[in-house]
Amino acid sequence: MKFDGAGIAITGSGSATPKAVIHNDDLSQLVETSDEWIRTRTGIANRHLLPEDSSLSELAAEAAKKAIAAAHLHPEEIDLIILATSTPDDLFGSAGKVQQLIDAKNATAFDLTAACSGFVFGLVTAAQYIRTGTFQKIVVIGADVLSRWVDWGDRTTCVLFGDGAGAVVCQSSPQDQLLGFEMYSDGSQNECLNLAYDGHPKYLIHDVSIQKGGYRAITMNGREVYRFAVAKVPEVIEKTLFRAGLTTEDIDWLILHQANQRIIDAVAKRLKLPSEKVIANLQEYGNTSAASIPIALDEAVRAGKIKPGQTVATSGFGAGLSWGSAIFKWGMPH
Ligand code: ACO
Repeated sequence: MKFDGAGIAITGSGSATPKAVIHNDDLSQLVETSDEWIRTRTGIANRHLLPEDSSLSELAAEAAKKAIAAAHLHPEEIDLIILATSTPDDLFGSAGKVQQLIDAKNATAFDLTAACSGFVFGLVTAAQYIRTGTFQKIVVIGADVLSRWVDWGDRTTCVLFGDGAGAVVCQSSPQDQLLGFEMYSDGSQNECLNLAYDGHPKYLIHDVSIQKGGYRAITMNGREVYRFAVAKVPEVIEKTLFRAGLTTEDIDWLILHQANQRIIDAVAKRLKLPSEKVIANLQEYGNTSAASIPIALDEAVRAGKIKPGQTVATSGFGAGLSWGSAIFKWGMPH
């Protein structure tokens, strides 16, 4: 394999969220809850939900197209598409469909499943291909439509999730803008958060039975996931900073997976980062799983908050359980 020691730069972002919005008050018509409970426990007010005549691939493609345009590239220049999702349109993968929708004829495309850590894991995966010189231009998409898998009668989960997609373009660069990353998994806590297969035995022939079925709705032990996030996220960011030879003072912007405002506040406090450096948009979108970090990143870039050369610390965490952090300088170096 060719190795030219290429660095990675993140040069464009895009996002797409469905138009249909459900407010906390709307949810109180479905389950016993209130705007006040949801806001104080989570910080969420709205979530955007994908309509029945649309698909995850279309949402992901919209975000990817915007990211490619923002990087001033043409779709046919893209070498690889990594679609981080837990809710594909097709269990064989939806990245190929996205490739077709955006007309990225020369791109290889595959799905990556790591729940709410999916975007960070996807970004790190893209960096490996670029650093080894295998690919030069990669689109990393985080997209999820958890509304498909939420039990809309379960108030402990249905108030939390929304749908969306976000994407970035990663390019080879003479100067490496990915300053550091860390990734972890702990399968011993897997049962804390699941979207599990639900099979029933089906007799086929002789003594051969197989399992036939679908998937159960999302189940979550909220308190355990909360405890895990508040302990592991500051730790993983501190480790990433340490290995990169940085300190929290070097962070211009903190973008965490948008699961709960209380988690975001607790992590920022532990890192001693002022709230002005923390980017949060979960009030509007809820928890969009793999999409939450790239949507927040894209909105902040387009609003002119995140500027080229600034240091962005991200951290994803969720089912697996899995967690990770990637710290990078935004944009192509001059
Ligand atoms: N409305 C009103 N009451 C509710 C609701 C609701 N929507 N949901 C739960 N309650 C009740 C509970 O039944 C409980 O009542 P009880 O005391 O009578 O039993 C009470 O509120 C408190 O419930 P807790 O679960 O203790 O509430 P908590 O303060 O822990 O908040 C929450 C729950 C918001 C889910 C929190 O635990 C959390 O955010 N956890 C982390 C979730 C997360 O980060 N997930 C990220 C990963 S997602 C992924 O990877 C796909």
